This record gives sequence, structure tokens and C-alpha cells, in this order.
Amino acid sequence: MTNSLFNRHLVSVDSLTLNDLDLIFAKSISMKKLVADKGGDERLKGKILAALFFEPSTRTFSSFITSMQRLGGGIIPLPTMNFTSIAKGETLPDTVRVYSKYADCIVMRHPEPFSVSTAAKSAQVPVINAGDGINEHPTQAIIDYVTIREKFKKIENLHILMIGDLAHYRPTNSLAKLLTLFPEITVSLATPVQTPIPAEIKDYLLKRKANFKEYNGFSKLLPEIDVLYITRVKKEYMTDKLYHSVKGSYIINAKLVNKMKKNSIIMHCLPRIDEIAMEVDADPRSIYLSNQLANSLYVRMGLLDLILRK
Ligand code: CP
Repeated sequence: MTNSLFNRHLVSVDSLTLNDLDLIFAKSISMKKLVADKGGDERLKGKILAALFFEPSTRTFSSFITSMQRLGGGIIPLPTMNFTSIAKGETLPDTVRVYSKYADCIVMRHPEPFSVSTAAKSAQVPVINAGDGINEHPTQAIIDYVTIREKFKKIENLHILMIGDLAHYRPTNSLAKLLTLFPEITVSLATPVQTPIPAEIKDYLLKRKANFKEYNGFSKLLPEIDVLYITRVKKEYMTDKLYHSVKGSYIINAKLVNKMKKNSIIMHCLPRIDEIAMEVDADPRSIYLSNQLANSLYVRMGLLDLILRK
């Protein structure tokens, strides 16, 4: 199969095709086997990654760094951008031009929506969006897609319910957009009235004739769904007043989980705060601390391999 990802930016899921997803799925599964068998190899020897993170991260930052290291590549050790010349006023386009000369790939997280696609215009190497404000988190959506496909062996005809603060949650924006490639899927989006899905996401789903519905409650849907995707209230993107009005309104506990089908799954891309009771962690349907989390490494290893090697 031709490597359609080679040397490409990944700033939005908009650019992905079914062929790309097949390629990424197969590569991610092979990375899982590689890690289990040997821990990694040297295929990215001589390649360098610059991870430019203007916002905190545990999983995205560390899994990209670890992915590079497991494949024999190098990294520019930059835990935060606070100690770069950004602090002296250097612009983002100049910063990206600089790292294009030092690295073979840039991964960037930034609080401003669309800042990563703007930065990519100044870059001479592929740029991967690690989250741009409340806009998108494409690699997380790909991880979620791979996790769902791996579990159900298919993706068509599933019913996926996303719940919580979908107004400010970039992973579900990307996932809802990505799932429009599969018209047979049913997507239900349940939010508190104060934090509805963004108008541009709704327009995107409508234009692509996605089979989706919006709700302001979710418990009645639990017996019929295959995937429950829970989100965090994004305190950092809202006023204190809005935060206190939605905080704690969508919490999953064992009683609610008991309404779900035996072969359904519970996902959350983490970090979770209080939206999933700890008792749910032990339920076999919960995969946010197992398969979904582990795939954040395998999928990012796969993406780096595809983007950096023909
Ligand atoms: N899921 C995710 O993006 O986590 P981090 O913010 O810790 O990277």
C-alpha cells in the first residue's frame, strides 16, 4: 500500500481518508506487536522530533517523545516553551522556522484555535497538531478510532454516545468529524444545555449527512449504545460562573454503567477529574486506563513512522 501519510502535515482530521485510516490502523497494530516483542527498533535513527507544547500535557507530550525514542529517533528536550525565546517575544512563525531547521517533524500544542495550521504554513517539515485550543486534537481521535475498531473488529453500524462539555472538548470535535467517514454509524451527543456542541461542528456533521442527534441527558440512551465516550469539563476554557454551573452535572457511576450492554465499552481520553467514579475503573467495559491509553503510544509510533519514512 502506498504511504499516503509520508511528509504530510496532520493539523485536522479533515485531511484524512478511509485509505489513510486503514494504513494507520495496520501500522498501529504492528507497533503494538513491535513493543511487545522487542520494545522498539532503530527505524527512525537520524530523525529528530521537536515537541512545542504551549499548554500542559501528560499523555500527548510523553507518548510522542517515547514513540520517537522507541523507534531509535531523537528529540529536542523541551518540556515547556517557557524557556525558549518565545518568552522574549519571538513570534510563532519564526519559532517554527527555527525548529524546521533543527528537526524533521514538529508536534505542537497551543491554546489558540487554528494556531497549529497557521504555524504549519511557516514550517518546512511536517507539523502534527497535538491540540489547538477548543478546535481539534486529531491524533487523539485517531487513537480513539483505532481503539474502537480493534475492539469491535469493525466500525460500521455502531452507536457512539459522547457526553459532557462538548462545547470545549477538542478530542470529541475531531472524533465526531472523523466518524463522518462512516455514514452507517449513529452518533449521539449529550451535553448540559450551557455547553452545546460548537455550531461549526454541527454544520460539519450536517453537511456530511452524518447520522447524529443532540440530547440534554443521557441515561435513557445507555442500554442501546456500543461506546460511551465521557469528557472532562474544560475549566481552563470557561468562566468560573459557567464552570460551577456545569461541574458535576454528567457523572458516570456503577449504577449507570449497569444499564449498558455487556459488550459495550467506556472511553475517556483523560485526564479525568470527577466525571467517572473510581468504582467504574474495575468494570471490564472500562478501557480508558487500558487499551485506549496503550494505543496512545502505538498510534503515535505508527504516525511518526508513516510521516517520517517513505
Ligand atoms: N488525552 C490528552 O490529550 O491528554 P494530555 O492533555 O495529558 O496530553
